[in-house]
Amino acid sequence: MPQQAAIVTGASSGIGLAIARMLASEGYGVTMAARRPEKLSEAAAGLSEEGYDVHQVPANMSSEEDIQRVVSEHRERYGRLDVLVNNAGVGIGAPVGETQTKRLDIQLDVNLRAIVLFYRECLELLKAAGAEHRNAIVVNTSSISAKAGQPWLSIYSATKAGVVAFTEAMNKELNSEGIKSTALCPAFVDTPMTDFVKGSVAPEDMIRPQDIAEMLLALLRLSPACIIPEIIFQRPGEQL
Ligand SMILES: NC(=O)c1ccc[n+]([C@@H]2O[C@H](COP(=O)([O-])OP(=O)(O)OC[C@H]3O[C@@H](n4cnc5c(N)ncnc54)[C@H](OP(=O)(O)O)[C@@H]3O)[C@@H](O)[C@H]2O)c1
Repeated sequence: MPQQAAIVTGASSGIGLAIARMLASEGYGVTMAARRPEKLSEAAAGLSEEGYDVHQVPANMSSEEDIQRVVSEHRERYGRLDVLVNNAGVGIGAPVGETQTKRLDIQLDVNLRAIVLFYRECLELLKAAGAEHRNAIVVNTSSISAKAGQPWLSIYSATKAGVVAFTEAMNKELNSEGIKSTALCPAFVDTPMTDFVKGSVAPEDMIRPQDIAEMLLALLRLSPACIIPEIIFQRPGEQL
């Protein structure tokens, strides 16, 4: 049984997969959750073949029941939660006049509502870890669009700004319990999510998923006396 354990959502691809690999290589038991079962299964099998202790739970972050199942399967398998990574996210571009209600709701549900539900469902486990070592860590993947709302991605930007505000509130509410939260705000990262822009921004000019994982590794190593509420990842020369 690993000494410490983590949940990573959106772990089948991109930033979440890089974070899951980093945590597993640091000795964490990792529950990997994502929507499409085959893609998740392939990602989890890759980490298992590398010798890591991972558990996969296919789950749609729009579903309260699925979120509860992720947490209960994690509890059953590992019995503790030291790091929660709320990373699953979806961006659907459209001018505001063409907003489709279904697409509005998906972005609100996956990018924001799911994070609130994960805190609620994980609170008991996080409090236990916080009481033990004062370094229970929650990382919420926001976006640089939280800092400067983007046209065509207005709903996405609003949900990600909500993630930053919710993270701030969680620090005020839960720091006394040894639970520390950080919002990650990256510019373009080379993942499938940015395929739509790779005609005009070369993948090699984008932030790497590993860059994000490196910052989480640093967060894990901080003393309980230090909180980093948010991290902005910019590309060289880019303005907010
Ligand atoms: N790439 C960027 O430039 C960038 C910049 C700023 C912030 N971000 C944020 O970073 C996070 C990770 O994105 P990424 O770039 O790594 O993209 P990605 O490679 O496309 O990965 C997205 C992950 O989220 C999962 N996911 C999406 N919708 C889901 C749902 N309804 N239920 C469960 N899982 C779901 C995906 O699983 P399926 O494939 O099965 O749906 C996948 O595992 C997102 O929150 C995104 O908003 C990305």
